[in-house]
Amino acid sequence: MSLPIPLEEIFVEEKEVPAEFQLPGLINQKEYLSNGEMKQWDGDMHTVVSPVYFKTADGLKPRVIGSYPLCTGKEANEALDAAVAAYDNGKGEWPTMSVSERIHYVEEFTHKMIEKKDLVVKLIMWEIGKSYTDSVKEFDRTVEYIYLTIDALKDIDRQSSRFEIEQGIIAQIRRSPLGVVLCMGPFNYPLNETFTTLIPAIIMGNTLLFKPPKHGTLLHYPLLEAFRDCFPKGVVNTIYGRGHNIVPGLMQSGKVNVLTLIGSSKVANELKKLHPKVNRLRAILGLDAKNAAIVTAKADIGLAVSETVLGSLSFNGQRCTALKIIFVHQSIAEEFAKQLSEQVNKLAYGMPWQKGVAITPLPEPHKPGYLKDCIEDAKANGAKVINENGGETLASFVYPAVVFPVNKKMKLYREEQFGPVIPVVPYDELDEPVEYLIESTHGQQVSIFSNDEKEVAELIDPLVNQVSRVNINCQCQRGPDVFPFTGRKDSAEGTLSVVDALRAFSIRSLVATKLTDKNKQLINRIVDSHESNFLSTKYIF
Ligand code: G3H
Repeated sequence: MSLPIPLEEIFVEEKEVPAEFQLPGLINQKEYLSNGEMKQWDGDMHTVVSPVYFKTADGLKPRVIGSYPLCTGKEANEALDAAVAAYDNGKGEWPTMSVSERIHYVEEFTHKMIEKKDLVVKLIMWEIGKSYTDSVKEFDRTVEYIYLTIDALKDIDRQSSRFEIEQGIIAQIRRSPLGVVLCMGPFNYPLNETFTTLIPAIIMGNTLLFKPPKHGTLLHYPLLEAFRDCFPKGVVNTIYGRGHNIVPGLMQSGKVNVLTLIGSSKVANELKKLHPKVNRLRAILGLDAKNAAIVTAKADIGLAVSETVLGSLSFNGQRCTALKIIFVHQSIAEEFAKQLSEQVNKLAYGMPWQKGVAITPLPEPHKPGYLKDCIEDAKANGAKVINENGGETLASFVYPAVVFPVNKKMKLYREEQFGPVIPVVPYDELDEPVEYLIESTHGQQVSIFSNDEKEVAELIDPLVNQVSRVNINCQCQRGPDVFPFTGRKDSAEGTLSVVDALRAFSIRSLVATKLTDKNKQLINRIVDSHESNFLSTKYIF
């Protein structure tokens, strides 16, 4: 049977895009933010094309959205110098500023960011093909994350606005910044995941070099003036260009104190190795994952199916937390795979602005070809695509495929497909999926589907030591953002909850002295004079 809407028909002509989702013309970004200025760029540009294709007289053509600067190592080094100067070895205005003042600047920025919501949301949708509804959610979640961060920092600061006395020593302990942060976000949550590192890094008093992701770059452009206007010069600097040309030099300079990257472990490893001072560099990384679902014979099949659909196909499976391999007990595997196929084929597919759409075009140009290879490889090794039309591809669009039965010989068994393909592996003994997780180079999360308390309990204890979150009868996910988000092995370094991120981008420093009368008087005079932002009992209300 063919698809209810043939793939040729999901792409439309430009004039058919509803006016409320259109961009205000081409967005040609000819400037970038560095050292407090919007610097003009008249060099090479990168043309940004959308994963959304338009029907034209010459066939399907990707929609051109605009362009951004392809700067070189020179501009990146200037931005680095600006960040280094603004930090000024910890003496700069920003790292020495009081926490309440820094919070004020971030609040100002957030107000200005909200004013740009409409354009940023549309750019998320057009640049990465995320549905309009999910693009709005991404924006709102990011704003909420900033407010949660501000509240969490106020709490930390309140606890720090006092002295502690131990063994005749009086001390004040606060969190202080680390230095220059190089921040790089991913394409799949280009705003949210970037800001879950960028905002904590700034608010803790660090200065920043920010490289937007390759897909999902222009959506940051409307925010650059807000960064310029809300923070002292050099606190936020952007770098544009090909990562492999500009980023290695920054690391080799030895002037980056923190590398924060949500992306691949390969890139993170290469970059870390370039830094000449290993002990100086901190890394806060969200990396690869191949989260598994384990559906036991005692699972509620309907629930396991609906959570698998959500977990493996939200944003076309392009989430680091997506379920990327599904182990199902042999006794229910056929039934599970059948129901999964039916549910997958009920998903609405089409253009990202369409209401209720679940499956949309993919932004990475190589992805349809790669997914096809994975499917062909699985077929060659004995699996089938069991849902009708699964894997059918046109231009940037791939109809989701349920592949069954998957085994060890297939690429889909180990590789992180990061796309709309669901490998289902039948197993006989629970040891098999557990062994899979032990051998895996990843260790982010797992989902267990079972209603048997003994079985679930017996899985929980070994699995919490393999991954960082065990989900019971539900999909894997990052949220709520106040929960710790991390992973073992090649999946992460550091932890990113609202509070953990504030810790990750700072270090505790303390001022301590012996509790003598003279020292007590000296400390009181410093506190009364309000000359120090660190040694201070000011309380943020
Ligand atoms: O790509 C990884 C994201 O952090 C996933 O977040 O689980 O809330 O979609 P999510």
